[in-house]
Amino acid sequence: MKMKWKICVLGAGNMGEALIKGMLSGGLYTRKEIIASDISEDRLTHIHSTCGIETTKDNAAASASSKFIMVAVKPAAVKVLMEEISPALDRSKVIISIAAGVPMGRIRQWLKKEVPIVRVMPNIAILAMEGATAIAPGPGVTDRDREAVKKIFDSVGKSVLLDEEYLNAVTGLSGSGPAYIFTVIEALSDGGVKAGLPRGAATLLAAQTALGAAKMVLETGRHTGDLREMVTSPGGTTIEGLYRLEEAGLRAALMRAVEDATRRAEVLGKEE
Ligand SMILES: NC(=O)c1ccc[n+]([C@@H]2O[C@H](COP(=O)([O-])OP(=O)(O)OC[C@H]3O[C@@H](n4cnc5c(N)ncnc54)[C@H](OP(=O)(O)O)[C@@H]3O)[C@@H](O)[C@H]2O)c1
Repeated sequence: MKMKWKICVLGAGNMGEALIKGMLSGGLYTRKEIIASDISEDRLTHIHSTCGIETTKDNAAASASSKFIMVAVKPAAVKVLMEEISPALDRSKVIISIAAGVPMGRIRQWLKKEVPIVRVMPNIAILAMEGATAIAPGPGVTDRDREAVKKIFDSVGKSVLLDEEYLNAVTGLSGSGPAYIFTVIEALSDGGVKAGLPRGAATLLAAQTALGAAKMVLETGRHTGDLREMVTSPGGTTIEGLYRLEEAGLRAALMRAVEDATRRAEVLGKEE
């Protein structure tokens, strides 16, 4: 089977498009090495005009001529898609599935054959090229292929390699996490407005503060407690604010949010 494309993206929606743009801008693949497939003509026209790559409606043909097969359709559409492309697959290919909550075992059942699978849990921030992604390689995935997959997700943010058993917790933390942080930013902005700031300035300052704090954690590698200590002078403003957050139970609320979301991911993952 001739590999015309290095990678096909099946489902060129929000996530598929972000991944295509990341791979192109990161120089991982050239335009001639990626093909996108979708059932929507509008999406294909959009992807062709904005990314300059070839597009098709034929999932099986795109899969037959690619080494990596990125599955980026909604979870409910994965079963039919796997049955459709299965005849085009063999052990030389690698399925990369970003479908939330769809275990590798189920994909294998639907394919009815052994094909190396990598299950990935990215988050919506890949749209801003700052995604947080967990990558779980299944049996038969070579070290080389695993690294190639990691490079794809590093082109749209940062990624970690984990076993599949951790992906529900990843969903509870970084999968749902952008919504928690949007809420925190909105609440900080509200606080600014309550204190008299114009809304636009308050939102910009809140969002940039979240971004700056996150960058300091990632770039210094220092413990968050140390960093917090750096801005907390005795008898100052920050300790007043921190005391209020502790009193309101912010820390416990965030921990429980992750725990409950993880439990929900477990329940949803068991449903067909
Ligand atoms: N968004 C997130 O935060 C997030 C985070 C982690 C993982 N994910 C996962 O990423 C995947 C994609 O999410 P998304 O937000 O990008 O969805 P999306 O914008 O709806 O994109 C999916 C695309 O696939 C198309 N499609 C449906 N059935 C198809 C088929 N059989 N063959 C080819 N294309 C098909 C859809 O067309 P129609 O619209 O016409 O149906 C749509 O254009 C999902 O599985 C989701 O669980 C998303």
